[in-house]
Amino acid sequence: MLKTLVLAAGRGTRLKSNTAKILHKVFDKPILAWVLDGLADLDQDEIAVVCGHQADDVKDFLHAYPVTTVDQEIQMGTGHAVMCAAHLFEDFEGSVLVVNGDSPLIRPDTLNDFVNYHRQSESQLSLLTSNLEDPTGYGRIVKRNNSIIGIKEHKDCSEAEKTIKEVNVGVYCFEWQFIKEGLGKLKSNNAQEEFYLTDLVEWAYCQGLSINNYLLADPNEALGVNTREDLALVYKLKNKHSLEQLMINGVTIVDPESTWISPDADIGPDTTIFPGTYIQRRVSIGSNCSIGPHTVINGPVEIGSNTIVTQSQVARSSIGDNCNIGPYAHIRDGSDIRSFARVGCYVEVKNSNIGDGSAAAHLSYIGDAEIKSNVNIGAGTITANFNAFTGEKSQTVICNNASTGANSVLVAPVTVEEGASVAAGSVVTKDIPEKMLGIARPRQEIKRLPGARV
Ligand code: UD1
Ligand code: MG
Repeated sequence: MLKTLVLAAGRGTRLKSNTAKILHKVFDKPILAWVLDGLADLDQDEIAVVCGHQADDVKDFLHAYPVTTVDQEIQMGTGHAVMCAAHLFEDFEGSVLVVNGDSPLIRPDTLNDFVNYHRQSESQLSLLTSNLEDPTGYGRIVKRNNSIIGIKEHKDCSEAEKTIKEVNVGVYCFEWQFIKEGLGKLKSNNAQEEFYLTDLVEWAYCQGLSINNYLLADPNEALGVNTREDLALVYKLKNKHSLEQLMINGVTIVDPESTWISPDADIGPDTTIFPGTYIQRRVSIGSNCSIGPHTVINGPVEIGSNTIVTQSQVARSSIGDNCNIGPYAHIRDGSDIRSFARVGCYVEVKNSNIGDGSAAAHLSYIGDAEIKSNVNIGAGTITANFNAFTGEKSQTVICNNASTGANSVLVAPVTVEEGASVAAGSVVTKDIPEKMLGIARPRQEIKRLPGARV
């Protein structure tokens, strides 16, 4: 039996922010979400999260997760945070995994291996540890004759203890029935005047309990976010890992230094990502695509295969196979661009469908529109979807094989029926029937110039 406790109540003072530390985002996903996603595959009975600083915001975020929340109204340290959750484990006879909520780089496999290690070694208290080149700020693992006898927080370390490179990662697994008594014995007579969870280790040693540690193979996983610098480093490491994985899977990343892709993205082989591209959240891209340079994709987005997206921005939309997007296209929320479609230069599409083989190649706004197949949208066509007097938005429908002339305005709600055409420069306010030409502009007059000779 395993129950997991995530500590997420701390103030995050060192970030100097109005936002709770664990809600700061890496690739548009809060640090706490990375931590919870890392725990999702463990075989456990319950996940509880300790909330305190800005608890309302944290709980709002946690609604999407199957977790219990526990309040730590005054934040008196990590040991105190666990004490606040003790009622959850009253008669519990299994293992409790405690995880700091500010360590988003720990991989699911590592947590799984750590819990297995705890069980196999039959420890009463296990610690995840790491050897760091620069251990500044972390709790040091103090050993005597190769046995762990305690953890010393950086601020409480002697000069000699500061030279210890092995640190506490902030992930612990313990047998509740053996350890619970120690929580009540924690004291706050230390540099930060807090109840440190880490002091439990010395207590357990004095009780003769078995303490073991599991050393991280990749020290980068240890990184806890305490400062803006840490946050930047987490971003960089998540990105590095994600790009490495993509390249292993057959994706060409022309310049890893200037390319940012969330580990949540899934990209098919033989797709090339050009420099200056930023892809975040759930994004799926097929094979043989060309994305970038200088392209931003904010998921959830799905892109098919053989599609080109150049110097453009795409958000919460889908794009089919063999499409050609950009340069300088803006595909906004709720758009569906079907196969072989073209969305060209300075074209903005919002909440609209663009059907198979249709093209809006230049300078258009397509909003709340249903554009069916093989439609040609002339340069400068605007769908006027918003009524400024009623505040309502309405739909424009353009049926198969229809076309709009350059600089036409379609005042929604309006329909251009199949095979119909809109004359250039028209302001269309009435439906145009099948295969008819709608002309809605002043007729051109030719007048003799004053003083001109015939
Ligand atoms: C902690 C460890 C340190 C370890 C490091 C790893 C302690 C005393 N120290 O230090 O040994 O090397 O993590 O990153 O545990 N929190 C609460 N309530 C509180 C205080 C903190 O829930 O009252 C939460 C925070 O939100 C955070 C986590 O506990 O997610 C760790 O707290 P933090 O202040 O970041 O501890 P560190 O100084 O990093
Ligand atoms: Mg920390």
